[in-house]
Amino acid sequence: MPSLKWIGKKDIKNHHNEVEYRVIDCKENIGDPDTGNLIVKGDNLLALKALLPYYAGKIKMIYIDPPYNTGNTSWVYNDAVDSPVIKKWLEKTIDSNDLSRSDKWLCMLYPRMKLLHQFLQEDGLIYISIDDAEVFNLKLMTDEIFGKNNYLSTMTWRGMHTVRNSSKDFNKNTEYVLCYAKNKNKLIETGNTDTYLRYSVDKTKNYPYDDNDGNGGYKLDPIYARNYAKPYKYVFLNGVEWEAPRGNYPRYSLTTLAEMDIANEIVFTGKEPKAKRYLKNVQEGVPPDTLLPQNIVGFNKNGTDQLYKLFEDKVFNQPKPTDLIRFLMKIQRKVDEKDFIVMDSFAGSGSTAHAVLEQNEEDGQNRKFILIEMEDYAETVTVERVKKVVTGYKFTGKVKTKLIEPVKINITKLLNEEYMSSLQKDIVDLISNYEGSFSKIEKDFSDNTLSIVGIKEVEEFMTGLGGGFQYCELTEPLFDELGLLSEHITYSMLAKHIYFTEFGIATSDSRINEELYFAGSYEKIGLYLFLDKKFTRNDFKKLDTKNHESFIIYADSSTLTTEQLKEYKISLKKLPFDIKDK
Ligand SMILES: C[S@@+](CC[C@H](N)C(=O)[O-])C[C@H]1O[C@@H](n2cnc3c(N)ncnc32)[C@H](O)[C@@H]1O
Repeated sequence: MPSLKWIGKKDIKNHHNEVEYRVIDCKENIGDPDTGNLIVKGDNLLALKALLPYYAGKIKMIYIDPPYNTGNTSWVYNDAVDSPVIKKWLEKTIDSNDLSRSDKWLCMLYPRMKLLHQFLQEDGLIYISIDDAEVFNLKLMTDEIFGKNNYLSTMTWRGMHTVRNSSKDFNKNTEYVLCYAKNKNKLIETGNTDTYLRYSVDKTKNYPYDDNDGNGGYKLDPIYARNYAKPYKYVFLNGVEWEAPRGNYPRYSLTTLAEMDIANEIVFTGKEPKAKRYLKNVQEGVPPDTLLPQNIVGFNKNGTDQLYKLFEDKVFNQPKPTDLIRFLMKIQRKVDEKDFIVMDSFAGSGSTAHAVLEQNEEDGQNRKFILIEMEDYAETVTVERVKKVVTGYKFTGKVKTKLIEPVKINITKLLNEEYMSSLQKDIVDLISNYEGSFSKIEKDFSDNTLSIVGIKEVEEFMTGLGGGFQYCELTEPLFDELGLLSEHITYSMLAKHIYFTEFGIATSDSRINEELYFAGSYEKIGLYLFLDKKFTRNDFKKLDTKNHESFIIYADSSTLTTEQLKEYKISLKKLPFDIKDK
């Protein structure tokens, strides 16, 4: 398989493993804190690593919109990779003049993608927004991480609604969304379909008939189609003799037609017999188009308008429209249309959280979100936006009132002096009548039509969508400078951490039992954590030997001999030294 080479690649290949685990400290609850929704402020490399013990293998959908590296906005490479090549890059601004801009961008993204891959559940999907500056480099890199076999599509989105006249060559108005599965084979639906993905659409209106016989809605289809040269005849059970018009070909074989006839699936009311096509026999949804449907996903400008409405100010450049993310959220198999977690580690203004809340509101589901943003606006924009969406917000809206019915003015009217002076007088009177009632009176003459509208600014309150989230920050690493466990670490945090580092997947609070020193089990291996305690013979008697064949015990020390540990299939790990901090 072809692979992409770039400067620094060998230095960052394992960087995701070298990053130390940190602790996440939740500072503030907004709305209902028990929703499981999180916004984390911090560099996503560190934040993802910190979240891994809790969410590895548990995320159904990742949407990211990383910096596009177009050169239009500068950025700084800041990862602490131990390599002379990379150390030279640190703290230096990367802009359009930087010839190794792509190398740096790939070095920044690669370890983050490696971590994101670990978060996806087996039937999960990742969507990555990008434009043509880096799409091809990105594709080769993600093929390497997610596997070419798991590549599903590069969707094209017309993000820009206008023509950029300043463009020197093409008017680049499209962006892309790459989509990979964690494991494409795990996406296939069982049952009556072998499709990977569907986009839910309401098809009921296309199946308008119903005989109320329990078979549900159906539509009527001709039983032939065009361009069939041979004569095609059939005598139905009710004696109707039917011949397809010349030049048409049969849609159904004679055998199928006979079966449909017996099953009472032919209707004879019109000119031609027609076949009943039942909705119940049609696959749910439609395969999503790779050209994103403009009427559903909107343009970039819709994202800008949405955010403006929330803040009444321009607080962020080019936020994505929530409809784009909602569309991606809806590209799931039928069986997946339920609660799942959506992660966005390049959160920006928080469009992904907004999209999750809107979509839940629409379909009554309970999807959750986890967002990461490193800039200071994580608090002032990301958190603030989601807070407004959850709790509601005031906004100043503009209400437009038509003051006259639009007047079409053709050349005859224009040359009619009397008509024009009377119109002029009417307009002056109208404006003086309404002045004071509106903050602005707008006159427009386009397409030979005159219109006049009054504009009033009104304060409205947009009701919140409810729910809530926790706002968290990254604190210190797992161990302090003396090599001791950080005082922020609780029993449950450590239990989750060792569970993840031992078994590579995340566990949940409900499986941890501090009183029994139990941190969870995996394939008949029992994991125990004796924090600040020795592991004694007495403790050994309390281990759950019914459900486990071997044990991993984390403890300060043990009173059991090496032989006893071996006999009871116990692997002893010493606290704190054997805890993996990277
Ligand atoms: C293109 S914007 C995302 C916009 C977002 N989709 C929206 O609709 O508002 C990319 C965001 O990723 C953030 N970012 C870049 N590098 C990051 C990192 N290492 N950790 C966390 N956030 C990062 C940037 O600060 C920026 O806000």
